[in-house]
Amino acid sequence: MNMGSLRREPVWWRDETIYQIYPRSYQDCDADGVGDLPGILARLPYIAELGVDCFWLSPIFASPMDDFGYDVADYRSIDPLFGTMDDFDALLNAAHSHGLKLVLDFVPNHTSDRHEWFRESRGSRTNAKRNWYIWKDPAPDGGPPNNWISNFGGSAWEFDERTGQYYYHAFLASQPDLNWRNPEVRSAMFDVLRFWLDKGVDGFRVDVIWHLIKDAEFRDNPPNPEYRPGQPEIEKNLQVHSADQPEIHDLVAQMRDVIEEYDNRLMIGEIYLPLERMVRYYGESGESGVHLPFNFQLLQCQWEPKKIAGLVKEYEAALPEGGWPNWVLSNHDQPRIAARAGARQAGIAAMLLLTLRGTPTLYYGDEIGLAEVDIPPDRIQDPWARQEPDASFNRDKARTPMQWSSKENAGFSGTQPWLPLSQDWRERNVAQLDEQPGSLLRLYKRLLAFRKNEPALRDGAYREIHVGETMFAYERVLDKERLLVLLNFSDDPVAAPPLPDSYRGGTVVFSSEEVDNPPEQDAAAITLRPGAGVIVRGGENRS
Ligand code: NOJ
Repeated sequence: MNMGSLRREPVWWRDETIYQIYPRSYQDCDADGVGDLPGILARLPYIAELGVDCFWLSPIFASPMDDFGYDVADYRSIDPLFGTMDDFDALLNAAHSHGLKLVLDFVPNHTSDRHEWFRESRGSRTNAKRNWYIWKDPAPDGGPPNNWISNFGGSAWEFDERTGQYYYHAFLASQPDLNWRNPEVRSAMFDVLRFWLDKGVDGFRVDVIWHLIKDAEFRDNPPNPEYRPGQPEIEKNLQVHSADQPEIHDLVAQMRDVIEEYDNRLMIGEIYLPLERMVRYYGESGESGVHLPFNFQLLQCQWEPKKIAGLVKEYEAALPEGGWPNWVLSNHDQPRIAARAGARQAGIAAMLLLTLRGTPTLYYGDEIGLAEVDIPPDRIQDPWARQEPDASFNRDKARTPMQWSSKENAGFSGTQPWLPLSQDWRERNVAQLDEQPGSLLRLYKRLLAFRKNEPALRDGAYREIHVGETMFAYERVLDKERLLVLLNFSDDPVAAPPLPDSYRGGTVVFSSEEVDNPPEQDAAAITLRPGAGVIVRGGENRS
């Protein structure tokens, strides 16, 4: 079967825009400094008005919060920090009433060590759940069974005195990996998916999906010849045997089958792999894999037109038949786009995200231009940053509270938030930016609305038109509709490059600069201001 044919309709996630919410940082309603579900409920009108269609919540399940919810102690309950199951049901209903879809974060690779399954598993070598996790005897010297390194630094093996074996954890020692080769684990976890699908959630973002299956023989990983001191410790070895094993694709296909038991649900995979391996997660003809393997290339690319144009070209070429593209500018694990590209470029970054071919995922706070927030050493929360203070980026910087207004604590909370606000929060907040013509927030809103009315932006083919040191231009073409996107990456004004014939006499239909009653501009004569972008309509419907 092909995604473009049989399973095609209705595929809402091809047309719609996803908004990632980090629940701890969105809106606090019970004044404990941490965001919660009632907070998100209260902000639904904002989310709907922003113009996104679907929101994905980072984990909200019962958890000791060692990795802020990516350490789940019970997959079927809501952590009290975020609220109750009634709060969740209310949020889901209200989201749907607002025409919004809700996607949950499924964390299948590991549980918390406080999960009942792990408590049982570690109880004895003969416990019925022993084989639900990955237990190995020590190496002959008593050390760990192999050289695998945790993603958060240090050995990925933890010795458990009680039973004299090591268990494997790809992340924190308190996040033991489940053994997905065990059919009982599969069945229990697929039932977790059904539990939420039965409630009516619209899909899942699946955490570290490429990690689920490990080498059957647990062979050592080879050293990485390119490792340089200062890089995270995990980079010392190449992850040849610890992740992305051939058998993963059968497992993903099984997971997809569970999703397909329900109508219109979405499965996104979190995958940090080189392009050619990442696209394999679409599965056969896009039918047996995840619908959207997250495309993180813009997250890791230098902010230069040639680099970006190059990666768009490579990505478009690598997509398998039936594979629908997607783009991500920021997330809770990486430096935000306004920090990477600079505040002046945040507008064209938004234009890029929302005009390239594919489903865009927007990260909360990017719409107000949140950049890297300074975290004083005594307020560092990120367990990775604590474990590897010198090597890695502190993820807290991209997880700071949403800034809603100039009121106390930026309207986020009635008390000091769990992470600091940005220095400029009195000006950089939703209430202020909403009133400011030309603000980034208003640009996002205009863009999202524009995208909704332009089938060519959603479905049109992508074609590169011009790439220079400062300018990137591409078109999106659908039947007779043609839109040309021109982005100025420099801090100087730049004249538009010579335009293809199909845009002669075309006019500017969208500009990153907000102007009341814009004069009709002939596309050929445009000069773009520093960091500005425009969209020109060409083809037969030029003006
Ligand atoms: C990926 C998540 O995005 C990250 O935040 C988390 O720490 C790891 N998976 C472990 O679950």
